[in-house]
Amino acid sequence: MVRSSESEAGLDTSTTEAAGAPLQPRRLLSRGPDDTARIGWGIGARLRPGDCLALEGGLGSGKTTLTQGIVAGAGGGEDVRSPTFLLHAVHPGRVTVHHLDLYRLPQTADLRALGLDEFLEEGAAVVEWAERTSREWFNGVIRIAVLGPTDREFRLSLPAHLVEPAPDA
Ligand SMILES: Nc1ncnc2c1ncn2[C@@H]1O[C@H](COP(=O)(O)OP(=O)(O)O)[C@@H](O)[C@H]1O
Ligand SMILES: [Mg+2]
Repeated sequence: MVRSSESEAGLDTSTTEAAGAPLQPRRLLSRGPDDTARIGWGIGARLRPGDCLALEGGLGSGKTTLTQGIVAGAGGGEDVRSPTFLLHAVHPGRVTVHHLDLYRLPQTADLRALGLDEFLEEGAAVVEWAERTSREWFNGVIRIAVLGPTDREFRLSLPAHLVEPAPDA
């Protein structure tokens, strides 16, 4: 089950304004990997070239699982693994998704040196361990908190075009 939390009180929006776009903070609860993949799918289905999403959350929180859903929603293949040892994987689809994992990079990773600005001209990017680079790259931020063995809270601060309409909208 995926549901919006009733209250968004306490969500700090001050650090989530990226690229000048108005962001819409939202919390979603995931009860397992399938929920997380569905959340990702909804984002991937709306993804556009130039979108660059920061994924923040500890090891095993579900960043790669979310990315699998995003890639599927963007029309890409199933073979999304943690690129922790690869740094960068490319998933062609309706929109090409560049999947980056900065875990092994220093705290001040320079993504221009990796060519991120060029990737974003024709594709979108999803970046795990996004804390390690400058916020200026991102037009959306997703923070994952581990609440229990399979419960996760997603805090989504996304530009309007990536936000699913509420079920009762
Ligand atoms: N609600 C959930 N969302 C995502 N993953 C979950 C969830 N509950 C359990 N898991 C498990 O947690 C692990 C998440 O791994 P992964 O997506 O690779 O995390 P990360 O990329 O953040 O290190 C997987 O083994 C997955 O099956
Ligand atoms: Mg990962």
